[in-house]
Amino acid sequence: MQVTLSFARSADGYLDDQTPERLILSTEADWAAVHRLRSEQEAILVGAETVRRDNPSLKGVPVRVTVTRSGDLSPESRFFTVGDARRIVFSTQPLPRLDGLAEVILSPVPITAARIVTELERRGITRLMVEGGAEILALFVEEGLADVVREAINPTITVGEALGGAHYCFTPSNGIDPEEELLDGMEVRTYRLKPDRSTEDCAALSEAIAVSRNCPISQSCYRVGALIITPSGERFTGYTHESSATHHAEQEAVIKAEAAGVSLRGATIYTSMEPCSKRASEPESCTQLILRHGFARVVFACYEPACFVCCEGAYTLRRAGVEVAVYPALSEKVLQINKHLF
Ligand SMILES: NC(=O)c1ccc[n+]([C@@H]2O[C@H](COP(=O)([O-])OP(=O)(O)OC[C@H]3O[C@@H](n4cnc5c(N)ncnc54)[C@H](OP(=O)(O)O)[C@@H]3O)[C@@H](O)[C@H]2O)c1
Repeated sequence: MQVTLSFARSADGYLDDQTPERLILSTEADWAAVHRLRSEQEAILVGAETVRRDNPSLKGVPVRVTVTRSGDLSPESRFFTVGDARRIVFSTQPLPRLDGLAEVILSPVPITAARIVTELERRGITRLMVEGGAEILALFVEEGLADVVREAINPTITVGEALGGAHYCFTPSNGIDPEEELLDGMEVRTYRLKPDRSTEDCAALSEAIAVSRNCPISQSCYRVGALIITPSGERFTGYTHESSATHHAEQEAVIKAEAAGVSLRGATIYTSMEPCSKRASEPESCTQLILRHGFARVVFACYEPACFVCCEGAYTLRRAGVEVAVYPALSEKVLQINKHLF
């Protein structure tokens, strides 16, 4: 999923002030640019405090998302009442008063950015814009789950500590320089934090999917293919049940790398389906195997359907700091190869 953080701040880093009126930071040209960016997104996320204080309608994006611990969200707020967007609320407690207004995703405490990204991705969302406030922006940055950060600074507005509300200034942990633009007086900094690897990812993932066709058809397993590429370019493939009736594709590829004496630290594993997180027939799940070997990236096409178990592979990997990239555009092929199960 491509995650874009977008916010406006004062010269001294405030997103708002404590007066009852909403602090207007953006100029007209900046707003127009934000709306263009919104129109490229599939979902938009704001924290519950922003829903309560600003009462935004978040128009122009098909899916609206918010997050709450307290459950203090009014069904009358514009988030729920304006337009026909799909609405999703991540909550730590059931919210029956939102029945019929939103899908409430009950999440264990704490709700992490990894949980939000994984659950939205499972629902087919590939582009998410996070518009604040400060707590939500910090959540995504701290977990390393922002791809692009757009910080628009109004140099003519200083709020001051006495009046200041939510406060957030972005500092990239990798020291990357932003693209800078002046928009009608606003200083706009756009940080592209991760390189676009989609072309090489899709090529390698297509190879992994092709390998999965070698797996014989069985009612008891998915047909999955995997391809490992190490930082120095060594490649190892595997498919489900290649050498043993209990082995998964990832395991088969890892066994070949181990036999060749190759370290997998920092490697990428491309696998047609989400790595499993629970195994009955083996001591270790593929997710544990990937973590034990120190893989840097996991790339897959299709989240594991709920045929056999509830899979937490992508979420567990993200929480452990492994970069996870998902290409649902290739999932149709994977489902076709596994149509014997559906
Ligand atoms: N200038 C801008 O571009 C911009 C953009 C957006 C917002 N804002 C401003 O930002 C202010 C709000 O910022 P804020 O930092 O105070 O609040 P916020 O980030 O909008 O929302 C914080 C709330 O979100 C929920 N939340 C956050 N992390 C959570 C987690 N991990 N699990 C569960 N719930 C979680 C909690 O809701 P509960 O309290 O319900 O538990 C928390 O109180 C507003 O006044 C708004 O005007 C400015």
